[in-house]
Order: sequence, then C-alpha cells, then structure tokens
Amino acid sequence: MSKLFEDVSKGQESLFLNEIALDPNFTPQIVQYRENQQKYIADCIKPLFMKRNGKNLIIHGAPGIGKTLAAKYVLKELQEETDDVYIAYINCWKSPTAYKVVLELCELLDYKFTHNKTTEELLRKITAILNKKSVVLCFDEIDKLESTDIIYNLLEDLYRKTIILIVNDKSWLVKLDSRIRSRLMPETLEFNQYNKNEMLGILKKRTEFAFIPNTCSQEALEIISQKAYESGDVRLGIYLLKESGSIAESESSRKILEAHAKKALEKTKEFSIKGPNDLKEEDSSLLECIKNNPNIQSSKLHEIFNASISYKTFRRQLEKLEKAKLIELEQASLGVQGKATIVKLKQEKTLNSFN
Ligand SMILES: Nc1ncnc2c1ncn2[C@@H]1O[C@H](COP(=O)(O)OP(=O)(O)OP(=O)(O)O)[C@@H](O)[C@H]1O
Ligand SMILES: [Mg+2]
Repeated sequence: MSKLFEDVSKGQESLFLNEIALDPNFTPQIVQYRENQQKYIADCIKPLFMKRNGKNLIIHGAPGIGKTLAAKYVLKELQEETDDVYIAYINCWKSPTAYKVVLELCELLDYKFTHNKTTEELLRKITAILNKKSVVLCFDEIDKLESTDIIYNLLEDLYRKTIILIVNDKSWLVKLDSRIRSRLMPETLEFNQYNKNEMLGILKKRTEFAFIPNTCSQEALEIISQKAYESGDVRLGIYLLKESGSIAESESSRKILEAHAKKALEKTKEFSIKGPNDLKEEDSSLLECIKNNPNIQSSKLHEIFNASISYKTFRRQLEKLEKAKLIELEQASLGVQGKATIVKLKQEKTLNSFN
C-alpha cells in the first residue's frame, strides 16, 4: 500500500491553528505601529462630522507596509461610528475604468437600475444620492486607474467629501492633470518602512494567530523577520511563515525550526532577483547601459539600448530592474510637452547591500 498519505490517515496534527491568518487578504484585528497614521487619516475625515467639507489625502509608500490595512481600518471604525457618511473603498487594480468604479459605487448604494446606462448617466444618479450625506471615497492603487477623469467629476460634483488616494510612488501626483490637482489639494501622508523591532513584532503577533501555541521557534521567527525587514515588505514575512510551516509539517516536525525557515528562504530566491549577480544577461546589459547613460528619458534610453525590441518589452525590462531596486523610474513634467520617465541608477550603497 502507498505510504504517501500515511501521515494524513494517522491523523498527524497540523501545526496551523488558523492558516487563513497567513492569507494575503487576511485583515488582522489590530494594526500595530500605525496609530499616528490612522489618526492623520481620521483627522482628514473629521470635518465631515461637522457638516463641513473634509480634507483630501494622498497616502504613499513602498509595497507591503500597511497602507491599505491602516486605511481600511480607519474606514471600518468610521462605519461603526456613524450612519451619516457614505464610505467606499475601491481597489483600482480590480476596477481600473470609470465604468467599473461607478458600478462599484452603484453596488454600495444598492442602486440596481444600471442596465443600459452610460457611465455619465450612472455617475449623475450616484452623485445625487451621495450628496444626501457626506462621502469618504478611498481609491487604492490609484495609479492603476486608466483615466483620472472620474476623479475630476467626483471632486466637482460632490459637496462634502474626503477623497483618499493610495499609491506607491508619490510622483504619480506630478502626472496628474493640473486641473484635478488644484481641485484635489491633498494632504500628504507618507508611510515609512517598519524598523527591525516593528517587523518582528508584527510577524510574532501573526504567528500567534496562525499556529498552535509555541510552534514557531524564536530562531525561525528571527530569520524570517530579518529577511522581511531587509526587503521592507511584511507580505514577504507572512509568506515565509506560511512556507516554513508547510515545510515543517511535511517533515513531520512538531516545531518550525531554523532549518525550515532557511529552506523557505531558499524557495523565495527562485523567483526574485536579489542583486546584479542574479540578473539575466539582457537585464545586466540594460543595467550597464543605464550606468553609461544616467538620468535620461526612457524613450531615449530605448533607442540607445536596443530599438529593435518594442518599447513595451523595454518598459517591462525597466520595471523588472526597478522592482529589484536597482534603478528608479522617476516621473518628470516636461511642461507643455507632457510627461517623461527619467531612468536613474540607485545609489551605490543600495547596490552593494544586495551582495
Ligand atoms: N502594522 C501591521 N500590523 C499587522 N499586519 C500588518 C501591518 N502592516 C502590514 N501588515 C500586513 O502586511 C500585509 C501588507 O500590508 P498592506 O496590504 O496594508 O500593504 P500596502 O502598504 O498597502 O502595500 P501595497 O503598496 O503593495 O498595496 C498585509 O497582509 C497586512 O495585513
Ligand atoms: Mg495596498
């Protein structure tokens, strides 16, 4: 008889108490270390309670540092506090067009007569309803919205509102149409990366939700937390916890040990570029080309590097280097000529820290 499923039939106990707590979309009950940021967001909304217009806000910062979590938490508290405010959270990656955004708002308002109506018609209906109360609209991943015209409409037509925009790179604001920018006049809130202790604190708390008590050894937790701290991304830490748990289970260990954490770390190496030494040939030669032609526009760089590949392919290559934190893509305004992306090399210091 096959022994492949022996551990299951023997009823080996799982190390996971609540595996969902390690799911990317899990919302923890408590948001640690972001009290000030949450207060800042709440302060922008508070004027609405006095029937005044709220302040708009742009939240920015690197991936995986609690921007979405903190914003959602404030909205949840607001919802518990009052019925006088309409609250909408929209992820523009999932709803990248004005039509999809409008449909989400219709759903929120329980407006069902959406069939055969244009975006403009629906928007008119919605603003009429929203204007009966105050409104808080949170657009997450705003840089994924294909056109920002809808923001213009909402800014113009809603009376009492706070519009919260969340984005990784605040230079997105530069690209925004100046007519929208001058209507938005947002407060700015930057999320900084967590320090070592904070990262450890967040991941430790998560192990308490996710695993049977005392399953995760301090050594494993520290290795994972250190890696997550270096990348700045809590998501990586949560992923590593889950992987280490699975590896420990597959080895029928009752504890997650240092060796399990190290194996999990090895796995992540397979799909991430760690440093210049891990780059594919075409990416290294692009990096070389950027070193020789620093701080120029991406379109010019495209010509210099290899005009025989499409600009789209070239952009993708650039984005890969940006993700590996080897270069920076900075948006610059060219005045009447529009906008451009300037390709910058990251500081040597950062480059070295990858080795
Ligand atoms: N202070 C915290 N306490 C508990 N969990 C946290 C905290 N900060 C982040 N997390 C967790 O880390 C993960 C990433 O957080 P979040 O989704 O808020 O990142 P983000 O800053 O919005 O990143 P992105 O820019 O990629 O959208 C989530 O699973 C979240 O629950
Ligand atoms: Mg987010």
